[in-house]
Amino acid sequence: MQLEGLIPIHIKDKTFEALMSVYQIALNQVVEELEQIKSGMNKIYGYEIINHITSRIKTPDSIMKKMKKKNYKLNYQNLVYNINDIAGVRAICPTKSNIASLVSIISQLPNIKIIKEKDYITKPKESGYSGYHLIVEVPIKIEERTLPVKVEIQLRTMAMDFWATNEHKVKYKTNKKLSGLDSKKMVLYAKILNFIDKKITHIYQKQFE
Ligand code: GTP
Ligand code: MG
Repeated sequence: MQLEGLIPIHIKDKTFEALMSVYQIALNQVVEELEQIKSGMNKIYGYEIINHITSRIKTPDSIMKKMKKKNYKLNYQNLVYNINDIAGVRAICPTKSNIASLVSIISQLPNIKIIKEKDYITKPKESGYSGYHLIVEVPIKIEERTLPVKVEIQLRTMAMDFWATNEHKVKYKTNKKLSGLDSKKMVLYAKILNFIDKKITHIYQKQFE
């Protein structure tokens, strides 16, 4: 697979297909590691650090749309270097403290290297969005070479995920733009959910920790 240089992307090409399968392998590897943490913690402590894990490979259309939006020339070099969320994993945890533990566990995994960390929990985005994002690299063997492949890991509590899923739906899945008032309401609801999240975490901690 020739990715060096400035070869233009054609989503119907064999190169594109081959590259996506490399991302799929990296994605599977990260999901597998997280599933092992999930069941391992459950066996040892009888406690769920992760509720569930979802994953997806970004669709070709969505990849091209993002590259155009960010004004990148449509070549493989830009795709591999600049688009960090082609492979994406989301782990939903019961509490914020589980997310902190999970970040610490992930940082110690020999096969996963954290290259970027975004803490939207301590500092939520203006939209109200909250979550903890990691961009990691996993080594994948491709034609006698081992290359680092990027995977985005999003860690959210159930409350954060509830908010983000609904906000995404009302914002992106309809043709109607959200009014200024409704955007403000969404920020307020994020804060209310965060309050409830904290309160429930206290109860969790009393029972389990
Ligand atoms: P992207 O170019 O969209 O990937 O953003 P970025 O590179 O600045 O990364 P960031 O960590 O800010 O956001 C990455 C992902 O987080 C998005 O693709 C969404 O899945 C999620 N996200 C970020 N902000 C919001 C938000 O305001 N609402 C929702 N629902 N999701 C968000
Ligand atoms: Mg994204």
